[in-house]
Amino acid sequence: MQVIETIEELQQILNRNERKDTTVGFVPTMGYLHEGHLSLVKHAKEQNDIVVMSIFVNPAQFGPGEDFESYPRDRERDIRLAREAGVDIVFIPSVEEMYPADGGIRILPGKQAHELCGAARPGHFDGVLKVVLKLFNIVDPDRSYFGLKDAQQLAIIETFVRDFNLRTAIVRVPIVREEDGLAKSSRNVNLTDSERSEAPVIYRALQFGASMFADGAHPETIEREVSEQIVSNSSGKIDYVNMLTYPELGLVTENTRDVILACAVKFSTTRLIDNIIMSTKGGTHVSNDDEQ
Ligand code: PAF
Repeated sequence: MQVIETIEELQQILNRNERKDTTVGFVPTMGYLHEGHLSLVKHAKEQNDIVVMSIFVNPAQFGPGEDFESYPRDRERDIRLAREAGVDIVFIPSVEEMYPADGGIRILPGKQAHELCGAARPGHFDGVLKVVLKLFNIVDPDRSYFGLKDAQQLAIIETFVRDFNLRTAIVRVPIVREEDGLAKSSRNVNLTDSERSEAPVIYRALQFGASMFADGAHPETIEREVSEQIVSNSSGKIDYVNMLTYPELGLVTENTRDVILACAVKFSTTRLIDNIIMSTKGGTHVSNDDEQ
């Protein structure tokens, strides 16, 4: 596995004229790798000749007072895990390499970015799209792999690729969970022991919400019940619990096909997100989460 730190060197290696028919699968990450990331790599390896992973904690997507400084980092462990997973090239640029002189150009995502995490983290998705566009231009991947845990991010990136005719295909990869149901996340290490033992209530509450949806409950009733279950069984504070159409992130109506039940819960220093996406095909309720 090659470890590359500069844009110039990576672009030389991945030059499309030289790589010809060799396909490149790209796994963008902020490091502190876990099984969720390794599942992205597995999917990328199955579908491409070369797998490139980036590891970069992107300051542009953190707001003031957010956890940019305390975001977990472990370069050597990440390199070892990426190598063991079969990544061919890992790109680990510095902040100066990615943002040598920020000219202040912003990318403003549309209404999908105003819901859920976008409402609580203004500017977050502007920063995500900025780094994702830079990475797509640097790597020029055939396919890029994103996890459904960050379902809003994934939906916005799909719109971005469509609206700007970006060359990469976007591949959705199911959520990977701990045995007790907690969605794998780099941030889980920042939970205290008691918060860690409480955190699985999030997924249990979402599953309960999904069963209410299957029984025909109204989205607002489901949101209220899920919030109530989380606050009464943990020290977590609700940032949001919302049920919206997916991937549009609009209001659920009788004609809606796919819905997302998503939440963000704030523990003492750590904010966790999770979701379940459900289909209403021909009136039958199907949860995508079985696979996640
Ligand atoms: O999902 C993440 O880890 C990040 O938001 C991403 C896509 C790597 C951009 O920094």
